[in-house]
Amino acid sequence: MKILIIHGPNLNLLGSREKDIYGSKTLAEINSKLKALAKEICVNIMIFQSNHEGEIVDTIQKAKGYGAIVINPAAYTHTSVAIRDAIAATKIPAVEVHLSNIYGREEFRHKSLIAPVAAGQISGFGPESYLLGLRAAACIANAKRGHSKKKTS
Ligand code: DQA
Repeated sequence: MKILIIHGPNLNLLGSREKDIYGSKTLAEINSKLKALAKEICVNIMIFQSNHEGEIVDTIQKAKGYGAIVINPAAYTHTSVAIRDAIAATKIPAVEVHLSNIYGREEFRHKSLIAPVAAGQISGFGPESYLLGLRAAACIANAKRGHSKKKTS
């Protein structure tokens, strides 16, 4: 089973960016934890990071064949109708993740445009949010696969 991981804008700066909020782990360190977990739970992951909204939309549109998506839309969480619509259009279940607890921060971060079209949201556990997100995505994708197998047999 294939799961797509998407990191949004400025997450390439993890490790040096606002360490008091996002911690000191780099994106490469988070990605290697994700790869280790993927191996353990027997899923294939593809990891993508972009600072550009359109590139994220293009990647979601091309995600046919993936069982689920784990996405940290970063600042686009609070602004992007385009990313929200792309997720809604593909119908691939998406797990929204955030390192920080967006509800404990500035008011403009309390609203996620992505949450209503996501299967669920994990927010506030640092890099662990991604690992929980990957486990959740694998469960959802597995359940969906089992369901469609049952339907066809
Ligand atoms: C973030 C939270 C967003 O509000 C912020 O713009 C980010 C990172 C998080 O992972 O905590 O860039 O998505």
